[in-house]
Amino acid sequence: MVVRVLVIGSGGREHALLIGLRNDPSVTDLHVAPGNAGTSAIATNHAVDVVSGDAVVALAQKLEADLVVIGPEVPLVLGVADALREAGIATFGPSAQAAQIEGSKAFAKDVMAAAGVHTAHAEIVDNPAHLDAALDRFGPTWVVKDDGLAAGKGVVVTADRDVARDHAAECLESGHPVLLESFLDGPEVSLFCLVDGETVVPLLPAQDHKRVGDNDAGPNTGGMGAYTPLPWLPAEMTERIVDEVVKPVAAEMVKRGIPFSGLLYAGLAIGKDGPAVVEFNCRFGDPETQAVLALLKSPLGAALNATATGTLADLPALEWHDGAAVTVVVAAENYPGKPRTGDVITGADAEGVLHAGTSTNADGAIVSAGGRVLAVVGTGADLAEARAQAYDRIAKIKLPGSHFRTDIGRNALEGKISI
Ligand code: GLY
Repeated sequence: MVVRVLVIGSGGREHALLIGLRNDPSVTDLHVAPGNAGTSAIATNHAVDVVSGDAVVALAQKLEADLVVIGPEVPLVLGVADALREAGIATFGPSAQAAQIEGSKAFAKDVMAAAGVHTAHAEIVDNPAHLDAALDRFGPTWVVKDDGLAAGKGVVVTADRDVARDHAAECLESGHPVLLESFLDGPEVSLFCLVDGETVVPLLPAQDHKRVGDNDAGPNTGGMGAYTPLPWLPAEMTERIVDEVVKPVAAEMVKRGIPFSGLLYAGLAIGKDGPAVVEFNCRFGDPETQAVLALLKSPLGAALNATATGTLADLPALEWHDGAAVTVVVAAENYPGKPRTGDVITGADAEGVLHAGTSTNADGAIVSAGGRVLAVVGTGADLAEARAQAYDRIAKIKLPGSHFRTDIGRNALEGKISI
């Protein structure tokens, strides 16, 4: 049983995790580091350097935490989960080695090749002199990825060879290899799975909206909104993804002596022949988590604790509320460029308004403190109701210069998504 939980991170995903944990009757004491202005209403915020294993271990020991849940990828890739486990603290999140499934796209491709998992053909380019010849082997749509962590903004998908070349050259100039990939056709799905060695428990499938503008216009972002479940996805597809993608990858990692423990996020394109992997992440996705957890009926603390303690196989089947959930991100002016911060927000303490990039100013007012500022969640009997509630809630919020997409879940609602 988990009583005291410490969540690491400061975004909308962490606010959603905290709300889920608060609704688990076994969890009585909730802490977060560093948190944001919204999390402080339901947990105690702690100002700690979350990429320092020593600092996080010290805080967890001081709080006598039964469980630490690590939200973002950077502390995971830097080994914060390893430091906690070495100190004997139950931790939700993979080791640094296992987190390479997100931290290095080349590593992920190698694991997928060994596991026989369908994914895009890819080539790594680490020498600018080889770039043009490599670009000629791809297209007419180019997919260019920074081979490192880039918060969702390191990927350019374009039909313009010059744009692809400029992005690749920029990554190479900053010392990062780039991955060129063939374009995978088909609607995208995010499937989050609790993974403990070879045990895999899927959550509800969701769909992110990565581009900044309506109708997928403009540059990629960390994610501007999401909905779940997916009315256009055949019912058996979740099981296919688990069997054809997630279980083989989990087994391959066990075989390599680096078992995955935590949340394995499969980003997929669903083509006519079935699912193909676009990317893996080693943590809950943002903003899909805000929608997915809104429909979780089972206690979240028990699910995360079972994963962290190697007892996921014994967890009762997860139960879900009927209906749908939608999350819409309210972003600061200029996001995904350098966002304007410090603007006072009103209406941000309402139900369904999760905080992503907020803090409190000297007067005690809630102010914007990041690019994605709020994640507003609506639920309902169906997608139409969930969308209506999310957008009604957004209408009551004021943040100067902010923007949001008005079409989250709309194509699915209008039956415009097909495989
Ligand atoms: N929703 C995209 C991500 O979390 O990476």
